[in-house]
Amino acid sequence: MRRAKISIIGAGNIGGTCAHWAAAKELGDIVLLDIQIKDKPELHMPKGKALDLACCGPIENFDSRITGTFDYADIADSDIVVITAGMPRKPGMSRDDLVQVNAGIVKNVSENVKKYAPNSIVIVVSNPLDAMVYVAWKTTGFPTHRVMGQAGALDVARYKTFLAMELGVSVEDIQGILLGGHGDDMVPLPRLTSVNGIPIHDLLPAAKIQACVDRAKVGGGEIVKLMGTSAFYAPASGTIEMVEAIVRDKKRIIPCAAWCEDQFGVKAANNGKGLFVGVPCVLGSKGVEKVLTFTMNAEEKKFMDESINHVKDLIAATVKLFPDLA
Ligand code: APR
Repeated sequence: MRRAKISIIGAGNIGGTCAHWAAAKELGDIVLLDIQIKDKPELHMPKGKALDLACCGPIENFDSRITGTFDYADIADSDIVVITAGMPRKPGMSRDDLVQVNAGIVKNVSENVKKYAPNSIVIVVSNPLDAMVYVAWKTTGFPTHRVMGQAGALDVARYKTFLAMELGVSVEDIQGILLGGHGDDMVPLPRLTSVNGIPIHDLLPAAKIQACVDRAKVGGGEIVKLMGTSAFYAPASGTIEMVEAIVRDKKRIIPCAAWCEDQFGVKAANNGKGLFVGVPCVLGSKGVEKVLTFTMNAEEKKFMDESINHVKDLIAATVKLFPDLA
């Protein structure tokens, strides 16, 4: 039987780390694609990373074939394409500041995905995430269930990490979900957070829970300040959690940026139109197989509407740059 083919566009920090996790989990064969550095034609970074990773195979016991390339023809017949191409944040930048540079990059990448991997499922990681998912969807013209964004997998992992640190318990025993765009106005949901079924409110005072929520919201910025560039281990790990759910048809429930209309009042908050925004999704071999909904309370609804409005503004800014994406 043919192995899954996973192409990763952008072989930088996140792309390279995605390849690392995907190979270690033996999810399939991996193609790492990047662009040639103009003033250094002697270098072939994706090929170098692919070779370096391939040499981990005998140690880590994986047989994934890993290819590095500059040529989109090599992504042909991909089952999954992960888009990490684009500029990361520098200290002081918000994700939204990246729209100017990254919208053009993601548009260009998506044109090639449409041409060379027309049957693939696309996972976008480039920021500003929710707007870049929109760019990939508009450009590829793929059905909505085959285009999604990685954000919630990371954001909820950060939220759980901070709660586990506060409680002094294993991260494995924290359950939680989160809604909204991948920005500082994401919506972690303490009401639906538990520690092996015990409501989080019974274990931590409200102020401590709120501190974890707040830290999750700006967790990306905290790391940018420390490293001078965007986080990459956890974003890549969250991405490969999604890839694994799809490749192994696991029907995992993972928060992803997915197309919503009536779900969570998206159409009502967005002038009657659908939008890609972070919601709990069932991920399987078809991509986003279902968006799971639940009744929000008034406060959650208010936060979700604010987040939808933010995503709406980001898409408007993107369409201003590229009117053909309207
Ligand atoms: N086609 C393919 N690759 C590209 C293109 C393009 N048109 N433009 C840039 N790239 C590549 C760069 O050459 C670089 O290797 O994308 C890679 C990005 O890697 P990093 O600079 O290390 O950035 P990274 O930390 O991986 O973040 C990538 O994901 O989470 C987001 O905010 C983050 O937008 C950023 C993206």
